[in-house]
Amino acid sequence: MADGNGSNKLWGGRFAGGPAAIMERINASIDFDRRLYAQDIAASKAHCAMLVATGIIAAADGEAIDRGLDQVKAEIEAGDFAIDPALEDIHMHVEARLAQIVGDAAGRLHTARSRNDQVATDFRLWVRDTIDDLDAALADLQHALLERAEEHAATLMPGFTHLQVAQPVTFGHHLLAYVEMTARDRGRLADARRRLNECPLGSAALAGTSFPIDRRMTAAALGFDRPTANSLDAVSDRDFALEFLSAASLCAVHLSRLAEELVVWSSAQFRFVALSDSFSTGSSIMPQKRNPDAAELIRAKTGRIVGALNALLMVMKGLPLAYSKDMQEDKEPTFDAADAVALCVAAMAGMVRDLTVNDAAMAAAAGTGFATATDLADWLVQNLNMPFRRAHHVTGSLVKLAEQRGCDLADLSLADMRSVEGGITEAVFDVLTVERSVASRRSYGGTSPERVRETVAAWKERLA
Ligand code: ARG
Repeated sequence: MADGNGSNKLWGGRFAGGPAAIMERINASIDFDRRLYAQDIAASKAHCAMLVATGIIAAADGEAIDRGLDQVKAEIEAGDFAIDPALEDIHMHVEARLAQIVGDAAGRLHTARSRNDQVATDFRLWVRDTIDDLDAALADLQHALLERAEEHAATLMPGFTHLQVAQPVTFGHHLLAYVEMTARDRGRLADARRRLNECPLGSAALAGTSFPIDRRMTAAALGFDRPTANSLDAVSDRDFALEFLSAASLCAVHLSRLAEELVVWSSAQFRFVALSDSFSTGSSIMPQKRNPDAAELIRAKTGRIVGALNALLMVMKGLPLAYSKDMQEDKEPTFDAADAVALCVAAMAGMVRDLTVNDAAMAAAAGTGFATATDLADWLVQNLNMPFRRAHHVTGSLVKLAEQRGCDLADLSLADMRSVEGGITEAVFDVLTVERSVASRRSYGGTSPERVRETVAAWKERLA
């Protein structure tokens, strides 16, 4: 549709000369917003049907437009679609091709509509589809975590605080922590989707329109709950993208934590897990190496996802109502972050499913670092009726003694124990093993194998 001088027929006659080449480059969004083609065409079809139903355009024109839009979609999907930067964006490309196919009737499609409400509608639809896909991927990740948690409900591992051995936990319990985080991620996406699901179409450029349109009809046809209530807000709001990006950012932060744990756990110093061949790489110079690249990249991609959120927040900051071209900068960061987070979730689910757990190394580590010291203090409280603060002190002395002897708490003799606290009996040794420690943590939300199995079952039911 660009004429020989580069001026753009869709803008009409006011522009005699064409834009400078550099203007065209900064202005055009077709390179990236072509990703909105399916949403753009769906919204145009809904708009067209509404224009016919309200008598704003003739049925024959409506049919021609509808058929033409189907053809444009087929051509795009067949990879048979000419890109012309002079046509700026996907909206003008679709309309221009439509005009070539159906002739004059195409010019009636843009009645009672502007690219401002059009792009707001298309982008909402795209973000909504993306939220739905990401939610499904996160559900799959939860299933992967639950399968492994069930398998390892009783697998002992050291629980850490400050990355120092703190108390023994079960590996299943550790994995369930990520099921909870993922559930909150899904909850945030669901919240965002609920607020997003209003249709801007019919807000026109910014003020609404004088045509007798039926906004409820287009909203319903596109699966929205209702039309947006303020035309100025509708064309200038990008909260839906920002909410998606913030939910994606937090999700990425969660994934980065598990990724970091996989990096640490798969190291030679830990050897808690081995990543499968499919999720690790070798080194070109060090034959022994197996690198956790996928985990490292998940850890790193958090940067670009959070970066996208920041980029769009900065684009929107201080923008006067209503639409400004600044808002065209909403798409690239959103697309990039959506691609990155989807890739990370899929790779994490794959790694979790594939990884081999080294139960022996985990159990051995679980017993190091006086990990059952808290159990000893609790025993003193429960059996000798000691105030916890004093029991903490007594246990500290026993840890010190074990350190001097170069042994674990469980290896101290009863005589040694009694030299610190005379009331201690043989029964104390029962609570000093890692198994007993973990089994005793039966409080709601605790790490004991029976609680883990219950929680896995409850989650499976919830997700079914
Ligand atoms: N490509 C534009 C964008 O993504 C479409 C809206 C253009 N509207 C306008 N008044 N120039 O924001």
